[in-house]
Amino acid sequence: MKILLLGSGGREHAMAWKLSQSEKLSKLYIAPGNAGTANVGENVNINANDFDAIKTFVLENNVEMVVVGPEEPLVRGVSDYFKNDGQLANIPVIGPSKEGAQLEGSKEYSKIFMQRHNIPTAGYLSVNSSNLQEGLDFLKRLKAPYVLKADGLAAGKGVLILNDLNEAETELQAMLDGKFGDASSTVVIEEFMDGIELSVFVLTDGKGGYVVLPEAKDYKRIGEGDTGLNTGGMGAVSPVPFADDAFMAKVHDRIVKPTVNGLLKDNIDYKGFIFIGLIKIGEDPFVIEYNVRMGDPETEVVMPRLKSDLVELFQATAAGELKSKTIEVDERAATTVMLVSGGYPGDYEKGKEITGLDALKDKIVFHAGTTLKDNKVVTSGGRVIALTSYGANKDEALKGSFENAQKINFEGKYFRSDIGFDL
Ligand code: AMP
Ligand code: GLY
Repeated sequence: MKILLLGSGGREHAMAWKLSQSEKLSKLYIAPGNAGTANVGENVNINANDFDAIKTFVLENNVEMVVVGPEEPLVRGVSDYFKNDGQLANIPVIGPSKEGAQLEGSKEYSKIFMQRHNIPTAGYLSVNSSNLQEGLDFLKRLKAPYVLKADGLAAGKGVLILNDLNEAETELQAMLDGKFGDASSTVVIEEFMDGIELSVFVLTDGKGGYVVLPEAKDYKRIGEGDTGLNTGGMGAVSPVPFADDAFMAKVHDRIVKPTVNGLLKDNIDYKGFIFIGLIKIGEDPFVIEYNVRMGDPETEVVMPRLKSDLVELFQATAAGELKSKTIEVDERAATTVMLVSGGYPGDYEKGKEITGLDALKDKIVFHAGTTLKDNKVVTSGGRVIALTSYGANKDEALKGSFENAQKINFEGKYFRSDIGFDL
């Protein structure tokens, strides 16, 4: 099977790496990809949001399936674009319809979905310019800290958590006034949930069939001890020790099943990943958010633990036959540590040569922000390279990830040396 994978991050390299191990794969293209994906497939210089260019490429190269890595093409409707085009309609897209992608594209939509299907989540109020006073009153009834979320996609920056009521009131007004552009013309105010987070990944076929992939925990803050600014993710661990069988059974019964069944009941066309951001409070799981794609850097530990053939799973997803599938998981722990550019998540420089890649032992190196320049691998983003290792447990795996993190160099390299510290 010829597959085109859209995206260019560490998540896409990890998926490409996994897809390339399948005997069912005859050719893998990645658009646009990075210096790492070029080692396991063929990069094509097409923007993942340029649907017309994707169409031309798919038809000219007889691509038989499209797998969507990031959320943006999904929220913009790439699945519908294929479905509604006479020449593309029979080429499956792994990724939900535009409607389904609203689970990530609109916080308000996802809250209403959860409410409708009795899925545990934080209490909330949705506010726009017409009910600002109601929003201010709602804030007064809550206890600090106050959680304000831009309804729309805001490049991961649209969530504010504030300790002071006055500040929350001011920020609410600023968000409605366009602090995050159109994305914050509606703001979801939420009750604060105090607990420990984890990421759960489901692949569903839109017919009620699904598989649950290994869970993971990611580390979003730039600084050690989970301090400082939010990033795209500085590292990840799988499995997550506190996600034991009893807890995961609750996740399954109260969240995964109602979510999959809810999509079916609501007639939402959804063939793809559901990434459930969860928080464990006491012994109970609550949903923080849905994403309609895999997590990054979680994919860099989930794919290495997945033993089943990913092309087969995608074929079953497209055919609506996931009910008949079970997955096999590697018992070992996998961890990943992200090397980032100095200054990230603020301003940083690009184009720094990366050395030491050949010196690594037992390596699984997933490129995130890299590119090839004059036959050299150079940095091209804030998150540069994810170093994944296996171990009998997370500590053993982390030892490998940290050792490799020392061996790779580029000017300004930074990584967190405390990934997994809280587990
Ligand atoms: P989101 O984009 O909705 O995942 O929010 C980003 C981050 O903000 C989450 O990963 C949590 O760490 C935090 N967060 C979001 N909503 C809440 C909430 N209701 N209570 C506590 N923390 C939250
Ligand atoms: N690691 C969190 C995310 O991908 O959104």
